[in-house]
Amino acid sequence: MNAKIVLLPGDGIGPEVIAEAKKVLEAVGTKFDHEFQFESHLIGGIAIDETGNPLPEPTLSACRSADGILLGAVGGPKWDDPNAKTRPEAGLLKIRKELGLFANLRPITTHEFLIDSSPLRREFVEGTDILFVRELTGGIYFGPSGLEKHDDGTETASSTMVYSTHEVERVVRIAAEAAQKRSGRLTSVDKANVLEASRLWRKVAERVVREEFPDLEYDVVLVDAMAMHLISRPSTFDVVVTGNMFGDILTDEGSMLPGSMGLLPSASLGSDGPGLYEPIHGSAPNIANKGIANPLATILAAAMMLRHSLNLEEEANAIEAAVDSVLRSGARTKDLARGDESTLSTIEMGDRVCSELTT
Ligand code: NAD
Ligand code: IPM
Ligand code: MN
Repeated sequence: MNAKIVLLPGDGIGPEVIAEAKKVLEAVGTKFDHEFQFESHLIGGIAIDETGNPLPEPTLSACRSADGILLGAVGGPKWDDPNAKTRPEAGLLKIRKELGLFANLRPITTHEFLIDSSPLRREFVEGTDILFVRELTGGIYFGPSGLEKHDDGTETASSTMVYSTHEVERVVRIAAEAAQKRSGRLTSVDKANVLEASRLWRKVAERVVREEFPDLEYDVVLVDAMAMHLISRPSTFDVVVTGNMFGDILTDEGSMLPGSMGLLPSASLGSDGPGLYEPIHGSAPNIANKGIANPLATILAAAMMLRHSLNLEEEANAIEAAVDSVLRSGARTKDLARGDESTLSTIEMGDRVCSELTT
């Protein structure tokens, strides 16, 4: 197959982890005889520095005509001035919105061979296999917002959580379809005891499940309680569907079940067009340019891209199997290591996955 893959390395550790994922994709291309054409484009802080815009037009148009898009991360202290005209994160939000990527799949699975990398006790994390489906183009991230300056020098700022019937229906359908293919359990997470937007979410989600997916085992959990259940009984969840901000927060929390954010990939999908694939972690400015970032989340995001956008299931499985066996062999980047265990650099970890793939 011939495919155009757009790489958006971005900021901080973004370029380091994207370089490893690209290497792995090249190894897969060679092994399975595919022609992947890579194009790198600007996004985030580096795009602001070079063009003044966190999502320059050439990046957006390259993405529109891509078969798959792989993103590193955006952001960093250099661009954190609260009074700045724009921010790196605005580029990421805009690309998600422009491409209509409303469903963000974030799988969280623990593995026997990694359980000791989790800060949580074995008996809690064992057997966890959750698919979070996070709504990605609505909610408080995209509702009306404003900043009002008062005469006395103080200010009032607002961000509004908005959901419409259609937005809830389509993401719940994606989650319910995924649950049908997995263990048949779906949990919807909201804050319907307080928020009007959550009450609509709950009403619509329940209707979609009742009318269209009556065989699912369905329940509803409030987000504050979910933050607790995610730690105390993670293995009881199968697919979890929730709004934009709740999904953002719960999945960072959930990354501690397998042991590190450096392990968690994600796929952002719309109803048509290319998907966007990225690790759930950010640009990790505290470890950028040190060669120690874990590239596995991005490598696993590349596998999700092969599966969901290029329809290359066997190739995606091959990457996932290679990552599993590298980890099973005891290879660890710093984020996964315990005590004085020896560690691999970002590049060494990428190399190990490539050589596992080609043997
Ligand atoms: P972060 O995810 O960048 O880092 C949180 C912690 O996890 C840090 O200690 C970091 O060192 C560690 N970590 C993250 N990825 C790792 C990896 N691959 N290997 C090893 N350790 C890893 O979150 P933050 O520090 O809160 O945010 C930093 C910047 O990243 C901010 O500007 C934020 O807006 C941005 N961000 C971007 C994205 C994205 O581009 N999708 C996601 C989250 C945060
Ligand atoms: C993520 C990030 C982004 C989000 C930020 C950087 C806009 O935290 O992808 O999880 O909140 O969606
Ligand atoms: Mn996040």
